[in-house]
Amino acid sequence: MKFTSSIVLLSAPFLALIGSASAFLPPTPAFARSASSLSVAVDTSDIKNGLTVEIDGEPYKVLNFSIMKQARGAAKTTIKFKNLMRGTTIENTYRSGEKFETALIEKIGAQFTYSEGNTFFFMNSETFEEIPVSDKVVDDKVKWITEGSEISLVLFKDKIIEVVVPSTAVYEVVETEPNMKGNTAQGYTKPATLSSGAVISVPGFVEQGAKIKVDTDKGEYIERVNE
Ligand SMILES: *[C@@H]1O[C@H](CO)[C@@H](O)[C@H](O)[C@H]1NC(C)=O
Repeated sequence: MKFTSSIVLLSAPFLALIGSASAFLPPTPAFARSASSLSVAVDTSDIKNGLTVEIDGEPYKVLNFSIMKQARGAAKTTIKFKNLMRGTTIENTYRSGEKFETALIEKIGAQFTYSEGNTFFFMNSETFEEIPVSDKVVDDKVKWITEGSEISLVLFKDKIIEVVVPSTAVYEVVETEPNMKGNTAQGYTKPATLSSGAVISVPGFVEQGAKIKVDTDKGEYIERVNE
């Protein structure tokens, strides 16, 4: 079976460049590719949330950043990173124009199948191979994953470093209190437990058993869906 994972950079301006370079890479089996020569230099002005850069050989994802204008001299950019291999976060301040190398990461489409002990098992959506992933890597995404969930596995130097869930997904409400009769107050919300395990706030009219669309980044209700 052919393996055709795509190389993904989380920064749009470089997609075209990487896209054309990857066209020359022969298809290789999962985890067998190393293509760190394709990382791209960026500087503080290119920083945005979600961008993954390589620092001292490890991948760091930008969680958030702020730019401080100095009374004298150039602005400084403070960046909060998550080390995707260790799960730790750091905050560093950089001079305007300081350079970074984007981390060359790959994404594989996969489906969650089951978990056992501390291991989550996913199935590569293209090769149907089973891929074990430690719960440390799944991390807090666990609350958005149900059996059959389509997710992406992020690889760095042939190691799975992150599980990415779609930014919106549909879940069933498995537990929530009944709608209070007569409670018509605008903005009345109540907690609801979703089929994936997450607990979020939903409008009062959402009943147990309803299917709802959720923003998984913010952990917020979007709308009720009919299925
Ligand atoms: C990132 O966000 C947190 C919480 O909103 C804030 O306290 C922190 O100062 C921010 N860090 C940067 C570098 O902007």
